[in-house]
Amino acid sequence: MPQLINTTTSNLNIKNIKYLIKKYQSPFWVYDANIIYNKIQLLKQFDIIRFAQKACSNTHILQLMRKNNLKVDAVSLGEIQRALSAGFKKNSDEIIFTADLFDKETLSKIIKYNIPVNAGSLDMLKQLGSISPGHHIWLRINPKFGYGHSKKTNTGGENSKHGIWDPSLAIPIIKKYNLKLIGLHMHIGSGVNYEHLKKVCHAMIKSAIQINKKIIFISAGGGLPIPYKFNEKPINIKKYFALWDQARNKISQFLKTPIQLEIEPGRFLVAESGVLVSQVRAIKKMGNKNFVLIDAGFNDLMRPTMYGSYHHISVIPSNNRKINEYKTIETVIGGPLCESGDIFTQKEGGNIETRTLPIMQIGDYLIFHDTGAYGASMSSNYNTRPLIQEILIENNTFKTIRRRQTIEELLSLEQ
Ligand code: LLP
Repeated sequence: MPQLINTTTSNLNIKNIKYLIKKYQSPFWVYDANIIYNKIQLLKQFDIIRFAQKACSNTHILQLMRKNNLKVDAVSLGEIQRALSAGFKKNSDEIIFTADLFDKETLSKIIKYNIPVNAGSLDMLKQLGSISPGHHIWLRINPKFGYGHSKKTNTGGENSKHGIWDPSLAIPIIKKYNLKLIGLHMHIGSGVNYEHLKKVCHAMIKSAIQINKKIIFISAGGGLPIPYKFNEKPINIKKYFALWDQARNKISQFLKTPIQLEIEPGRFLVAESGVLVSQVRAIKKMGNKNFVLIDAGFNDLMRPTMYGSYHHISVIPSNNRKINEYKTIETVIGGPLCESGDIFTQKEGGNIETRTLPIMQIGDYLIFHDTGAYGASMSSNYNTRPLIQEILIENNTFKTIRRRQTIEELLSLEQ
């Protein structure tokens, strides 16, 4: 039962975390750039790696991706602006906008910046085509089934709002507005397994044949899982690539044109690179249950409350005592928010669980592992709590890549 983070294999080790704890106020996020580089290397077989920045959209992380020749996906005007400020180019396919609708401001900026659009609805095609004929587009196709680690992350099938159900209906619209169809895209959800993957590849081939238009790209979307628990196996990328490569070759043969294979992961690239550091501020018994309350809440790390997600938790003692691995206690970990759901040890549906953890003292630190994806990027200001600091470890240096927001900044919006 490991309670302390690994001391040898990454920069996210006890020595570094202790250094940061002394220097900065908890809670804060820490990322290790090396882990991101290593994950990028694993995907090098794909022609294009497009980072789904929603997983971790800090501009410094985006710059790191750009320097490693990745491209980027944006799902909002804010994410487009982030990509531009990180150095990704307009008038190119370095940024692609993926969505199921346009608001007016986003549409006009996309046309101004000439950013290709991965359209998830026919209305998007009409609205874009009527003012920007010739615009480069992809079709995001709903393969009529989906998959996800939680119902909330399943993006295919009848219960999903994502993608175009019948892509053949897009063809007359594309013709009418002279739009340039360059790619087909499918993303069925997060946490995909091989069985579903085979089905997606098959659905992609079927759609490409049905549409029968010379395209340049297909995108496998994102969704590659990572092992959040110690007994989970990492995904076999070779197998993943082989399935998509086969699909690409079939499409390429049918259309008699070369096809580039793109992948669009978020979590796979960044989840394991990040931890959330928090401090124990209160310990109390509620009947027979032992509650440990920390200074981070679901406004900081939302995944456990939103999906019942598991994050491994380690303890760093605040003093020199040794945490005896055998002196453990069943513990519920909660945050400071005014809601009973502000619990980090819960299942989907909100059932509270306990975690076997060392007996803690006030002032000890709790480390939440694998929070580099959908950690900081899903944080909110609920309970008027400022966004917390983000720190990047790169080449043995510690760099604050986002300072803590101030309460004054929050209030100033209302003045
Ligand atoms: N591409 C598209 C079109 C997507 O909708 C998504 C995720 C991705 C790529 C990246 O998926 P990934 O490789 O990260 O699984 N907040 C949830 C995940 C929501 C994902 C939404 N779309 C979580 O914390 O697990």
